[in-house]
Amino acid sequence: MGFPRFHPDSCALVKRYLTPEVYEQLACLKTRTGFTLDAAIQSGLCNPDSHIGIYAGDAEAYSLFAPILDPIIHAYHAVEDPFEHRPGLDPILLAPLDPDKNFIVSSRIRVARNLKGFSFPCHIGSQDRGQVEFSVSQALRKMPREIDGKYLSFKDLGRSQMQDFLSQRLAFPKGDRFQDAAGINRNFPDSRGFFSSRNEQFMVWVNEEDHLRIISMESSSDVCGVFNRLLLGLDHLGAQLRFAVDEKYGFLTSCPTNIGTAMRAGVHICLRRLEKHQDLLNHLANQHHLQIRGTGGENTSVDRAIFDISNKQRLGISENRILRNLHTGLAAIIHAEKNL
Ligand code: ARG
Repeated sequence: MGFPRFHPDSCALVKRYLTPEVYEQLACLKTRTGFTLDAAIQSGLCNPDSHIGIYAGDAEAYSLFAPILDPIIHAYHAVEDPFEHRPGLDPILLAPLDPDKNFIVSSRIRVARNLKGFSFPCHIGSQDRGQVEFSVSQALRKMPREIDGKYLSFKDLGRSQMQDFLSQRLAFPKGDRFQDAAGINRNFPDSRGFFSSRNEQFMVWVNEEDHLRIISMESSSDVCGVFNRLLLGLDHLGAQLRFAVDEKYGFLTSCPTNIGTAMRAGVHICLRRLEKHQDLLNHLANQHHLQIRGTGGENTSVDRAIFDISNKQRLGISENRILRNLHTGLAAIIHAEKNL
């Protein structure tokens, strides 16, 4: 392909760190499953507004293409060597955050996982994708009573049924243009589907950006309850499936922004006063290592003062620590909102 020409306006981390020397060194390499650097950077090349611009096609990509991925990981996660994966997945109990339901509308925590031995979604073949769906759906049959439910494959759903599940945010849509350029949408909706517990508070998305997105959520501020439910599901899935995990990088994911705990824990929170004091809100979020997104998640705008606030750190920090930071940060934000 020759040294790639990124859009002049692109601020993607991949553009910043992919020097001609690094390109020269890596361009001729292939992982054992045949994943290349050119494939990894395709999305960043096609989408000048990418922030990162690179995806991993399998677990080996993280070691083989470390000369480009490592600087991106250091920059995005703000970690310095030496760091390591330090899991801490114990049930947790913290003071109620917003018991009168004045601010927090809902809480949601997800972790991403990929199965060991399979290529990741941007590079997987259709047969393997089907095998992933089969293994995960089998494991989901053995969930404990509290989160028992059923798995639905998208191919078995009619158009209007699919629409209903999409509007309830139980199902997931075809990926965005970033994922599309990375190859994640190939053969959509084949071998994709979702599991939902009967009370719809525990879900698993299969073959979205990662093989599994394990999700716990509810319409309350009880982030600990949501976390503990996630642990229950994770324990049962982890006992039946083998996940791609590395001692240093933690859980390996398609996008290098998600490695480590692969956890995003957050709330939808209504902040009418802070909406008019964005500087203060941003300051509080930064201070507590939180990220603010629009109401509909990534790349969306804020609707009726409802912000999506979640952890920014995922790597070199435990899940328990992330949850504590979120809790402290949200308490500070609620305090500021009350006192404005
Ligand atoms: N590839 C996109 C970018 O570089 C998305 C990055 C993070 N989001 C994600 N869903 N992995 O901006």
